[in-house]
Amino acid sequence: MCNNIILIGFMGSGKTTIGRELAQKLGQILIDTDSLIEINYGMKISDFFKRFDEAKFREIEKNLCIWCEKNLGNAIISTGGGMPTIYNMRNMGKVIFLDTPFNEIKKRILNDGVENRPMIKDIDSMLKLYNNRLQIYKDMAHFSIDTLDYKENIVDKIYHYLKGWKLRAILSVSDKTNIVFFAKELISLGYDILSTGGTLAYLQKHNINAIDISKYTDSKE
Ligand code: S3P
Repeated sequence: MCNNIILIGFMGSGKTTIGRELAQKLGQILIDTDSLIEINYGMKISDFFKRFDEAKFREIEKNLCIWCEKNLGNAIISTGGGMPTIYNMRNMGKVIFLDTPFNEIKKRILNDGVENRPMIKDIDSMLKLYNNRLQIYKDMAHFSIDTLDYKENIVDKIYHYLKGWKLRAILSVSDKTNIVFFAKELISLGYDILSTGGTLAYLQKHNINAIDISKYTDSKE
């Protein structure tokens, strides 16, 4: 179900711009979480923060994550910069971190104007937030990409990464109840099925295209 592509990163890292390009290239729908919140609340995020507090915003973001996880299976989701601090984005799909050095972020945010960035008071607070978040983004991502490049190249790199994506699930069980159902679910999520022995034979008999694990001699596989 959750075969979405999730773009995470600090404010100004280009999540919406890259998300839009990627959605066009892949022919998928872009869901921009900030825009959804703005539409639902009828106000800009900056006005939301003037009226409510950060805790309320995070609660809405968390509910939105749960909604995305339950309802979206094949979308590009560009997230608000704080979302990975409150929810495990990996529950929603493949997570891509748009990794942008602080100096570039600072330049972009100062160009846009800090008045639209309620989380940022000054350069010091920006740097502190950036440093607090960097490791969270890195740890959560399946794939990180340097964004100091033309957006076409960034989108191309993500595209090629996604094409090469191979998840593998190893199935070897004595109780075969529901195993065909689970294998089909995993395949629909983009997993390869690796198996062995009796389980492999059982899966193959039920038309599951499982790979024979004994063909792998390298333990790193
Ligand atoms: C925030 C980032 C913003 C927006 C809100 C809070 C954050 O989104 O969700 O102002 O905590 O980093 P962008 O990252 O799209 O600017």
